[in-house]
Amino acid sequence: MTPDQQPTADSLRSQLEALRLSASERLAAAADADGVEALRSALLGRSGELTVVLRGLGGVDAAERPKIGQLANAVREELEAAISARLEVLRGSELEARLANETIDMTAPGREVRIGHLHPTMSVERDLREFFHAFGFEVFEGPEIETEAMNFEALNMPPDHPARDLWDTLYVAEPGSVDAGEPRPAEDGTILRTHTSPVQIRAMHALRPPIRVITPGRCFRYEAVDASHNFEFFQVEGLVVDHATSLADLKGMLEEFARAFYGEGTRTRFRPGYYPFTEPSAAFDISCLVCGGSGCAACGRSGWMTILGAGMVHPAVLRAGGIDPDEYQGYAFGMGLDRITLLRHAIPDLRLLMGADLRFLSQFPAGR
Ligand code: DAH
Repeated sequence: MTPDQQPTADSLRSQLEALRLSASERLAAAADADGVEALRSALLGRSGELTVVLRGLGGVDAAERPKIGQLANAVREELEAAISARLEVLRGSELEARLANETIDMTAPGREVRIGHLHPTMSVERDLREFFHAFGFEVFEGPEIETEAMNFEALNMPPDHPARDLWDTLYVAEPGSVDAGEPRPAEDGTILRTHTSPVQIRAMHALRPPIRVITPGRCFRYEAVDASHNFEFFQVEGLVVDHATSLADLKGMLEEFARAFYGEGTRTRFRPGYYPFTEPSAAFDISCLVCGGSGCAACGRSGWMTILGAGMVHPAVLRAGGIDPDEYQGYAFGMGLDRITLLRHAIPDLRLLMGADLRFLSQFPAGR
């Protein structure tokens, strides 16, 4: 520093005075607490503006120095007080603003948690499980992808049996045949099961008599889709195998079931039917749920609705299950779950049930 640049006591005084003035203007302009803190270090920090002014103190007359020092301290104190006051004001109004904006209404009701429910077909399945459980049936499930041998042969339908036409199925393609442009059924006979009946065979192999099982599950058929048919649907099969099982047991069981599911006043009847895996076979009807039996469009004017097929297990089927037909007899029945669901809720079209439209499905909460 050259002598003529040495600050004089007067110049230091006026610098301090200027600092005091500009500081109070800048403080007033600081919009929030962060701004004030930044200003605090700009003014009073270790290399802040006040410190910079005081660096010139060494060049001032020794007699003047204490006075300038006093003035600097007074300015520092004043600024600190002004900073604290400004901070208090700003913090106060920030709190006020938050209190004003962030209202919490303690009386507001909580947000509703949306809980889903079972698909109507699944709640029918649950009810069936519960009903048959009370009669000593256990649930036994089998695979949706089956073999032709299980789905047909073991159920007394050899390869050329005409009854196979009733259950035309969806074939799993032989690996590679689709890519080769020549799709053909898998050589090992893998298909999608057309009914839950093959699970009878699996249950007989897995369990020893007495056997009482129900076998709920998904089935598939090569089917044109309309209001009452789909290529994918649900069945529940029932199987009982014991020493002295009779057609009377079957009848009693199904009548119990019909009354529990369709009401005490439901009338029932057995009609002769045909299934390759039962002998004798029957169709089981209930009095029409729409007209009560007088005849209407829903029951084809007959007054009756067929709800399942049933019969005494064919000896060939018992044998396929590894059970001696001379020692044991059994009865079996099979029903479509979707049909029960349609009847329960008076839904006119199966496609509504199988679609995934929640606006429709959420109208049918679980339970009967
Ligand atoms: N599997 C038959 C079907 O899908 C239904 C059926 C009929 C099952 C008679 C049975 C039975 O167990 O005994 O059409």
